[in-house]
Amino acid sequence: MKTDLLITGIAQLATANGAAAKHGRSMSELSVLKDAMLAISGGRIDWVGTKSDWVGNAASTVDMGGVAVLPGLIDPHTHAVWAGDRLADFEARVAGATYEQILLAGGGIRSTVRATAAASVEELVALAKPRVEALLRSGATTIEVKSGYGFTMSAEIAMLEAIAKLAVDARALIVTTLLIHLPPVDAADRARYVEDVCFELIPEVARRGLASAVDVFVEREAWQVAEAEAIFASAKSRGLAVKLHSDQFHSIGGVELGVRVGALSVDHLEAAGESQIEVFAASETIATILPGVSLHLGIPAAAGRRLIDAGAAVAVGTDLNPGSSPLFSSAAALGFAVRMNGLTAQEAIVAGTVNAACALGLSDRGRLEAGCAADFVVLQDKDWRDLVYVMGANPVREVWVGGRRVGA
Ligand code: NIG
Ligand code: FE
Repeated sequence: MKTDLLITGIAQLATANGAAAKHGRSMSELSVLKDAMLAISGGRIDWVGTKSDWVGNAASTVDMGGVAVLPGLIDPHTHAVWAGDRLADFEARVAGATYEQILLAGGGIRSTVRATAAASVEELVALAKPRVEALLRSGATTIEVKSGYGFTMSAEIAMLEAIAKLAVDARALIVTTLLIHLPPVDAADRARYVEDVCFELIPEVARRGLASAVDVFVEREAWQVAEAEAIFASAKSRGLAVKLHSDQFHSIGGVELGVRVGALSVDHLEAAGESQIEVFAASETIATILPGVSLHLGIPAAAGRRLIDAGAAVAVGTDLNPGSSPLFSSAAALGFAVRMNGLTAQEAIVAGTVNAACALGLSDRGRLEAGCAADFVVLQDKDWRDLVYVMGANPVREVWVGGRRVGA
């Protein structure tokens, strides 16, 4: 074989195989090749194998010196664009207030909406850049970023424009989602708002290609199932994928709705119980868990172990945002999923790579196999498990996107 670039000196190459989401027991199927090599041409993987199996010519070679290599991480859930901060909320919560109480009093997400509305697109881009860089340095080569702090139709569009600008220079692939986050405070305005979303916002977003999916926050204090269903009907009729924030504090039917409408994923699930677990187990919808939220808000951790034992496909994300999860490391999110949600190290890697890619509707990344994007992380040390083991330092030495070294 003739290849552009041969990566040698890989003590362990750990990857899932096959593009399909891994459910249940198959989440443990992580292959670990020792003394491996990776051949890359045109930004894609040509070949993966052991040193002794390589036969061919490479135009150039990079020797990693005996460390572990894994697929670039896929962070399937972030709110990396925001203005202002939530330090006052943090203090209030430490003093005993709950996230929901702060939200009901007009703070929380609503305070970030006010700060974000007051910022220009350029300011939003400048604020988001270092956050996306931090995720990249932690190993994320594909990062989903949501709107949702705009609230008015024009402010949501401005957020999506900021994400589009961010994507131009970001060295990771950015996948954009329109998030319909909170309803108007006055109940009398809700129906009109849903109409504007369905007949004004979503059509414009679809026409301009500003997002590939629509997300709705389904919660007692946010959107109800019937409202989300109307929004999803509009999204699907315009070719956009759908996903949900649901079962964070209460189970009000979001998981059931998500599965019924064929959502790519339903995310959060801290309050999901056995009946929601069974619904996931019988579906193709990915259960995305966000351990940073449980850690930061002190709420129960989603039942990752039970979901997998029941046969569901689990993904993990940071949920990077100022209010519920100021977590700037995609690798740390996987480590927390092991410690807090009961995943094994193998399952956590699968959750943060191939399953997270499926949660974004992507099939050409999240694994190191011929034909996939040559996106990978090089660890500081020789054992792949360091990615989920190390806390407070970066286990990632190098990040490569499209066959080129970009960071860390
Ligand atoms: O994923 N729960 C809803 N939305 C976000 C939090 C946003 C915020 O608190 O600013 C979440 O947790
Ligand atoms: Fe979120």
